[in-house]
Amino acid sequence: MNFIKNMFKKNTISTKVDTKNIPVHIAIIMDGNGRWAKKRGLPRSIGHNEGAKTLKTISTFCGEFGIKYLTVYAFSTENWKRPKSEVDALMDLLLDFLKNAETHIGGKDVRIQTIGDVSVLSEEIKKEIVRVTNITKENKGLILNIALNYGGRSEILHAVKEIAGNIEKKKITVNDIDEEMISNNLYTKGIPDPDILIRPGKESRLSNFLLWQTAYTEIWYTDVLWPDFRKEHIIEAVLDYQNRNRRYGGL
Ligand code: FPP
Repeated sequence: MNFIKNMFKKNTISTKVDTKNIPVHIAIIMDGNGRWAKKRGLPRSIGHNEGAKTLKTISTFCGEFGIKYLTVYAFSTENWKRPKSEVDALMDLLLDFLKNAETHIGGKDVRIQTIGDVSVLSEEIKKEIVRVTNITKENKGLILNIALNYGGRSEILHAVKEIAGNIEKKKITVNDIDEEMISNNLYTKGIPDPDILIRPGKESRLSNFLLWQTAYTEIWYTDVLWPDFRKEHIIEAVLDYQNRNRRYGGL
């Protein structure tokens, strides 16, 4: 909070932000890397490299801003359909990101975790995920959840199978199933649902991201492409969020 007060003093942050109503959890669909590169006549992989830089800047800022959880969509269960060269470039970038994570993010008190089925990723990447998760686990600032080989439908399917398995083993009965049990069988177990979902890159769809968790999430879209996304856009989204009236189905 002191950091926010200092930002106010230095006038680097809009004084309109209500510091008592900072969202706990922000989710981001990091879209627009390919178009950013295309506009410049560059290969798509360069757009992803720029996107990774943006992720570092935004994670650091979210931590300083007092956000507790940031969940980012880095690779979906559908992204395997992209050309092999692009998938390989994304995997190389991920590996590089993880290898340097403690310097560029961990040093900022950020704790790194992943959601999604990482079992199919390369041994090298899996080893780095375990290493980075362990090395940052005592960090007390932002919790950065990187969604890797993540899909909302496959996450729900996985939860249904877990629960059905427990019925089969007679650990629970059908009547024990409730919303809490489903939430507790998702990759996001223990993490509050996102307050805001930000989608840069002009599209306005969920793209199979956090389908269960976004039931009451406020969605904020922008035409800005992810590599051009800056802390000012986070502030803009938070200001918009603070002006919304969340009724959760009530009046
Ligand atoms: C969607 O933009 C973006 C992705 C499929 C990949 C997101 C990955 C990063 C931002 C890289 C950083 C992440 C890590 C963890 C290293 P798109 O390529 O579909 O853009 P387009 O819609 O303009 O083609």
